[in-house]
Amino acid sequence: MPINILGIETSCDETAIAVVSDGKRMLSNIIASQVDLHSQYGGVVPEVASRQHVRDLVPVLEQAVDSSGLKMKDLDVISVTYGPGLAGSLITGLNAAKAISFSLGIPLIGVNHLEGHIYASWLNTGLNTGLDNPDPSQDPGFPLACLIASGGHTDLLLMEGHGDYRLLGRTRDDAAGEAFDKAARILGLGFPGGPEIQRVSHGVTSTERLPRAWMGDTLDFSFSGIKTALLHMAQAKGIYPPDRNELGPEETAEIVRNLAGAFQESLVDVMSAKLMKMAKKYRAKGLILAGGVAANARLREEITRLSPLPVIIPPPVLCTDNGAMIAACAYHQFKRGEQFGLELDIDPGLPLG
Ligand code: KG4
Ligand code: ZN
Repeated sequence: MPINILGIETSCDETAIAVVSDGKRMLSNIIASQVDLHSQYGGVVPEVASRQHVRDLVPVLEQAVDSSGLKMKDLDVISVTYGPGLAGSLITGLNAAKAISFSLGIPLIGVNHLEGHIYASWLNTGLNTGLDNPDPSQDPGFPLACLIASGGHTDLLLMEGHGDYRLLGRTRDDAAGEAFDKAARILGLGFPGGPEIQRVSHGVTSTERLPRAWMGDTLDFSFSGIKTALLHMAQAKGIYPPDRNELGPEETAEIVRNLAGAFQESLVDVMSAKLMKMAKKYRAKGLILAGGVAANARLREEITRLSPLPVIIPPPVLCTDNGAMIAACAYHQFKRGEQFGLELDIDPGLPLG
C-alpha cells in the first residue's frame, strides 16, 4: 500500500500544500503566492504574511486534497515545515497540521524547510526513495554534494545518507536570494528580484564585470560586497538613485540589463565553483541544486556544464517553496520512525547539518 502524505509549507510568503505518494509521486501541488501583496513593500512583511496564510490555508488544503483524487480519510501522514522561517508564518501551518493530524488520528511529522528543499530532488525522479525499483541510471548514490540557495540561506551540505548532513560552507552575510532581491531593488526592478534579474539579463553578454568574493580556501560565501559594488557602479552610471537619473528610458534599460547580467554572472560563478570544489574534495557521487535560487536558468546551465558528475535539479516550480518537497522529505523521516507529538513547536532558527 502506498503511503500518502500531506505536506504543508508556510515558512515565508507561500501557502503551499501538496499530496505526495511514497515520497516521490506528486498527486497534487497547490501554491498560493503572496507576491502581489508584498511587492508594494519591496519585500515580505511578516505580519501581512501570517494573516494571509490564515486566509489561504483552508481553501488551499481543500484544493490540494480534491485535486489529488484522494479523500482526507486516505491520508496516512500529515507533514509540516516547523523551521527555519518567519515565526508568525510557521505557526499558522503548524497549527493547521496539528488540527488535521489530531482529527484524523494520523501521525504528524515536523520537517526542516532546508531539508525539504533537498528532497524536491526526489520528486518524480529516479533517485532512490526506498521504492522497489529505483532507476539506477538516475541514482548516483551517496554522498551527494548539495547547494541550497534561497532567500535566507546559501549552504553547502554533504548528504551522506537520508537525514544525514554535514554543513561544509555557508554565507557569512547575505544569502544568494537576498542578494538577488537587493540588487533588483538597486536596479529599479520588481520583487522577488531573482526572476526579474534573470528576465532582463536573458541573452545579454555583459560588458561590465563585478567582483567575486572567493573567501580564501573556504567553502563559505559572501555576497554583500558584490551588492555594494553593484550600487557603486549604478551610481557611477547615473541610474541610482532613481530620482537623480537624467538618462532616457532606453539608455537606462540598457545599463540595467548590462549590470543585471554582470551581477548574475558573479553569483553564478562563485556558487558553481564552490559546489564543484566541494564535490571533488569530498568525493561526492552526484550534485543536488536546491532552493529558490536553483530556479535560475544561468546557474542550472553553468553547474550542468561544469559537472563531471550527475546533477539533479528539480524543475523551477519545485525549487521555490512548495508543499510537495515537505511531504517528500517527511516520507523518509516516517520510514525512519521519527515521531512528533502535538507539543511540537516552531523553531524559526532551526539549523541543518
Ligand atoms: O526557497 P525560496 O522560494 O524561499 C526561501 O526559502 O527563502 O527562495 C526565494 C528566493 C528569493 O530571494 C528569489 O529572488 C530567489 O529565491 N529566486 C531566484 C529565482 N527564482 C527565485 N533567484 C534567481 N533566479 C531565479 N530565477
Ligand atoms: Zn525556501
